[in-house]
Amino acid sequence: MTFMELAKNRYSERFFDSRPVEQEKLDQILEAGRIVPTACNYQPQRFYVIRSEEALAKARAVTPFHYNAPLMLLVCYDMRTVWRNPGDRYYRDYNSGEQDASIAATTMMYAAEELGVHSVWLRGFDSKAVVDTFGLPENIVPVMMFAMGYPNDRAKPNGWHFKRNPIESFVTEL
Ligand SMILES: Cc1cc2nc3c(=O)[nH]c(=O)nc-3n(C[C@H](O)[C@H](O)[C@H](O)COP(=O)(O)O)c2cc1C
Repeated sequence: MTFMELAKNRYSERFFDSRPVEQEKLDQILEAGRIVPTACNYQPQRFYVIRSEEALAKARAVTPFHYNAPLMLLVCYDMRTVWRNPGDRYYRDYNSGEQDASIAATTMMYAAEELGVHSVWLRGFDSKAVVDTFGLPENIVPVMMFAMGYPNDRAKPNGWHFKRNPIESFVTEL
């Protein structure tokens, strides 16, 4: 499968089977998030694996968008490791953490997809609740979560997946 085919086939999965994701596949997904480019190569991305009953119960308490997936990943960045650009006059105290973590998350999403592991990107949670529930250190900033796993027999894209704006609405030549 070409990358373009992979990108076009991917959709947000909201119907998961209870079958666990094999450790070998999880390792490959996490590896894909390890090797991404980051600002100044500082590598602030941090991944938390949520798959025990206890951890899943906590995650399901902080977001309604868990879709009973057997595996969730919480993607964060370490505030002590980000690249900073205090000279940026547009963003105050700019740091690269959200970009770095999002590159890692996006790469893991496609790596999972290639392995047949479906996912949905989640931001419908209160970051403070996530920090408190999992007892994260204060230097760790939540960016997003994945619900991940194998699709069940109800799996299908929802209507939003088919609604994309035309290329002209995204691209401007300067
Ligand atoms: C930043 C971001 C946040 C999202 N948050 C949620 C969420 O909390 N719950 C959810 O069900 N889907 C969430 N999604 C999935 C989007 O709704 C989905 O990607 C979009 O509707 C396009 O559909 P598709 O991914 O199936 O192509 C999120 C996606 C992104 C990129």
